[in-house]
This record gives sequence, structure tokens and C-alpha cells, in this order.
Amino acid sequence: MSKIDVDALRAREYAWMANDPAIYFNAASTGPMPARAVAVADQWTRMRAQPHQIALSTMQQAVATSRQQFAQLIGADADEIALMPNTTYGLNLAARALPLRPGVILTFDGEFPSCVYPFQALGSRGVSLELVPRVNGLPDEDTLVAAIARSDVVAVVVSWVQFASGYVANLERIGNACRANGVFFIVDGIQGCGIRPIDVHALPIDMFASGAQKWQLSPWGTGFVYVRRELIEQIEPMDVGWACMRASTDYTRLTDYEFDFFPDARRFEVVTLAYQDFAVANASTAMLLELGVESVAKHIDELVDIVIDWTESRKDVRLFSPAEPSRRAGVVAFTPDDPIAMGARLREGKVAHVVREGAIRFSPHCYNTAHEVRTALEMLDR
Ligand SMILES: Cc1ncc(COP(=O)(O)O)c(C=O)c1O
Repeated sequence: MSKIDVDALRAREYAWMANDPAIYFNAASTGPMPARAVAVADQWTRMRAQPHQIALSTMQQAVATSRQQFAQLIGADADEIALMPNTTYGLNLAARALPLRPGVILTFDGEFPSCVYPFQALGSRGVSLELVPRVNGLPDEDTLVAAIARSDVVAVVVSWVQFASGYVANLERIGNACRANGVFFIVDGIQGCGIRPIDVHALPIDMFASGAQKWQLSPWGTGFVYVRRELIEQIEPMDVGWACMRASTDYTRLTDYEFDFFPDARRFEVVTLAYQDFAVANASTAMLLELGVESVAKHIDELVDIVIDWTESRKDVRLFSPAEPSRRAGVVAFTPDDPIAMGARLREGKVAHVVREGAIRFSPHCYNTAHEVRTALEMLDR
């Protein structure tokens, strides 16, 4: 693992940061695209204006590369990846295509709504969603794991990293409990994917969905779902389109209407994909892979540690994120006694952040420096 040379990275990929007074701590909402991705976007926009300049093979190669690179980020194989416009579509696929018998799906209270609504919508199938209550505002993993053994539980859905507190779920522990009880395990990966190493093959995960617009620094409208290999051919796509079928690769046979799904995860890709956006996502993902996900994780940890230490030094600020290092990722959130005053100072200082669940949330990435973190915190100390 090599240390990230942030100055070189900023000069190469985020040159605007040298001239813009903003400090960008909001990758958990929208990740800024690196210069190499912007260049690909420009190139594809020009080609798109004259579509005859884009060979079919170029489009097919772009999405094949996306499947391969997204797979590499999470330790999957490319044929277990279906390209999706976002996280929520992948979670809907899990909700509607997995063979769930009537019963209960468990999730944590406090999850982002993508882990809630698609599963609340299954009432007509006799499937209901149960929220495991929070303890001190954070997920109660012990209660969740104990509940998985109940005979009425059919699936568990959780975020790998929670959107507001940054709490990192122990996917191995939850997944093992699911596996031991014949319960499906579905993960919303968007707040961790690209900045935390993960090996889905080594974990008992059935489906893992992630949009690429946040930590993966990619365009809106790009993302993927991983489906565990053994499940791919067992589950029928919830929506069916021409692109799910083997015959979609051969334009001379389109009207043979051969009803034969791809044997791999492409069976869940229903429509013409956003080739341009996935080509751009490939540039961003290549950058993360070059930097190394472990190096990115370490760099972010160092920045988050500065914030954690600062919260400990302030009597009027409570850490909302977990204090335990193994439970933290890129989201760090704290609740001041006077959130309005602190929010105003950050806005004045052009520190891009958000407030979630009443807490100020910072989400620094590979391009941020320790100096930026200290500068933002000094604004709050003044
Ligand atoms: C945990 C989590 N899931 C999902 C989403 C967004 O879902 P989608 O990619 O479908 O827009 C967010 C966005 O904040 C999130 O934090």
C-alpha cells in the first residue's frame, strides 16, 4: 500500500481546488469527477453529437469495462455485475426478484430510505419490513443478529456504511447469521464502495447494490448491482426488456424473439445503457484502482481521525459517528450544541458539508488534505 501523494493528485485531477476557496467535504452526497473523467465526458459529448463516430464495439466495450472495474472494486467477477442507474434500482431488484417466502425483512431504523421503501412495498406478497430500533442513535447490531434466528425472518437489508452517522456494519457477522438461518442478505454499498476494501466472494452477501455518483466520483446515473453467482440463474428479472436477452448482442436476430435471458447478471440490465456516463465512470474508477482502495481508505481514516480528536477536545460537540475505528469509514458526523451557529461559520468559510439527522456531516476523500480539515475546524473554534 502506498501513501497518496495528494498534492500531485490535486495538480493532476483537481486543479480547480487551487483557485477555488471551497473546501469540499461532501463526497457522501456527490463525488467530484476527476479531470480525466471530465475529459472523457467532453470527448463522448462531442462524439454523441455525431453518433456515427461511435462504433457499436466502442459502446459495448465501455459497459464491459464498467462491469469489470466495478467487479474489481468489490472482489466480484464481471459476469456477476449488472449495470444500474443507481443504488435503489438494485435494491428494488433484490426486493422483487429474490424468491422471498411470506415473512419479515429486517433492517435498522435510521437507514437511508432506499433500504426501506422497496421492502415496505411487498405487503401484497405477505412480506413486511421490521425496523430494529436504534441505541444512542446508532444501529443495534446485537439485536439484529439475534432476531435473524427467528423463523419468520426471510431477509436482511442494511447499508454497509450508514448515510448519516457513517456507522460501518459488520457484514461478515450479519451475513453469517443470515447464512446459518437460510435468510437472504442484501447490502446497500454506496457509502463505502470505492473507499473501503471489500471482498464480496469472501462474505455471505447475496446482493450488493451501489450507485457510483458519490465516493466513486462518477456521473449521476451510473451504478451496479452484484448478484451472488449461484443466485443469478435462479432469479427471474423483475423487469424484462430486449437488453436482458442473449439475442440482444446480435442485431440481425432481434425479431427472432428468442425468450432466452443472458446466463450472467446482464439478464438484469433491461434497457439501452448510458454508455457515455459509464465511459466516464470508467475513468474515475480507474483512478481509484490506480491509487489503490486501501491507500484511499487509509488517507480518509487519517482525515477522519483529526475530526474525531477535535470533537473530543470540545465540550459543546458530541460525536455522532461511532468512536470505534472499525465502525468508521468516510462519513464523520458530530452534533454541536449550537448547530445553527456552526453551520453558518462553515458556510461562510465555504466548507461544503451537509446536515443529516441533526448532525454536521463531513465526508472527505482522497483529494482532501489534513490542512483543509484543520482549517475547517479552526473556523469552528474561532
Ligand atoms: C445509503 C444510501 N443508499 C442510497 C442512496 C441513494 O440512492 P440512489 O443511488 O438510488 O439515488 C444514498 C444517498 O444518499 C445513500 O446514502
